[in-house]
Amino acid sequence: MEHEHVRDVDPAVADALESEVDRQRSSLQMIASENHASRAVIDAQGSALTNKYAEGYPGSRYYGGCEYADEVEQLAIDRATELFGAEHVNVQPHSGTQANQAVYFAMLEPGDKILSLDLTHGGHLSHGHPANFVGQFYEVEQYEVDPDTGYVDYDGLAEQAAEFEPDIIVSGYSAYPREIEWDRIQNAADDVDALHLADIAHITGLVAAGVHPSPVGVADFVTGSTHKTIRAGRGGIVMCDEEYADDVDSAVFPGGQGGPLMHNVAGKAVGFEEALQPAFETYAEQTVANAKALGESLAENGFSLVSDGTDNHLVLVDLRESHPDTSGGDAEEALEEAGIVLNGNTVPGETRSAFDPSGIRAGTPALTTRGFDEDDCRTVADLITRVVDAPEDDDVVAEVREEVEQLCAANPLYE
Ligand SMILES: Cc1ncc(COP(=O)(O)O)c(C=O)c1O
Repeated sequence: MEHEHVRDVDPAVADALESEVDRQRSSLQMIASENHASRAVIDAQGSALTNKYAEGYPGSRYYGGCEYADEVEQLAIDRATELFGAEHVNVQPHSGTQANQAVYFAMLEPGDKILSLDLTHGGHLSHGHPANFVGQFYEVEQYEVDPDTGYVDYDGLAEQAAEFEPDIIVSGYSAYPREIEWDRIQNAADDVDALHLADIAHITGLVAAGVHPSPVGVADFVTGSTHKTIRAGRGGIVMCDEEYADDVDSAVFPGGQGGPLMHNVAGKAVGFEEALQPAFETYAEQTVANAKALGESLAENGFSLVSDGTDNHLVLVDLRESHPDTSGGDAEEALEEAGIVLNGNTVPGETRSAFDPSGIRAGTPALTTRGFDEDDCRTVADLITRVVDAPEDDDVVAEVREEVEQLCAANPLYE
């Protein structure tokens, strides 16, 4: 078989792939769940391990020829163990959603009760939304953030748990800018004899670097995505104490998945190695400092931030007071024209629809990877302001687009 490149075989896909790299290079990726993986991670993910079936776990596979798959998976496990300090790690979930699925499948029976944060208050579909299988197979109640402060209403959660008597409480969120007090949720779970799943999908890198408190050793289960703040390439991870190890492993495979995506497991191994280096801690600290600078500047420019600021990698802006005639969708669209890619997002007390919500969510993990500092993020806040103040003004959008390109040129990506 000849070793042809994509371009030799399929120019249409090759063109799209090149255009995607150009798009990432020449615009600001501010979707809070995205990042830029290193060339090393991308190389590992694009490797011949994509060919290998390795059902089972290192040392105990259903197929032969797994010696290198074993090596790679064991490295990913060992590095994750060192990063997070968990007793048991499973690196095979295809994504964060599959990691959550595995915990539910391991520990719950159909019809059991889940208590999780409402989607419009920052929760995630895989925590029990009716459109996800979780919302259909289990009985779900949702807690909320305090409408006055934007912080999780921990007391309300404990009261709701006492009444609802869930089998599992889910913490960890998609659009929540504040530090999560794992122990308060654990106490609420302990009080009603419920399990606690802490989903750190968004903050996996911040937890690994020690810039957000870790739920490992507090919650019964910790799940995460590996491609967000930790930039270890697309995938998921489950961590737990040894007592749950066999149940979790069987729930991942054969419970919910077939053969592991070994090329992605290789990406995780490489990304975790990068995250073990001292430079990663600096990166994670800078990511948070950048989000704070972005949030402060947006607030100075008149925007209202849910919870009045941020402790992590994202800010959530409620446009209703400052820009009553501009929806999150309008803002998202105009900003994308200007080269600033973020998403319209629901906000606590949402009064519009999930398809055209009242807020925007903006994150700094990808900007920080390409070298942005606090000054750059203050500039970005001003650019966002100019566009959202005049989303229909083509001249403003074009001017901002030019300034975005200058910022990108000063912070090159994938050279
Ligand atoms: C809190 C939370 N959990 C789970 C997920 C799902 O992750 P994935 O897209 O890796 O399946 C997300 C995605 O953003 C998330 O925010």
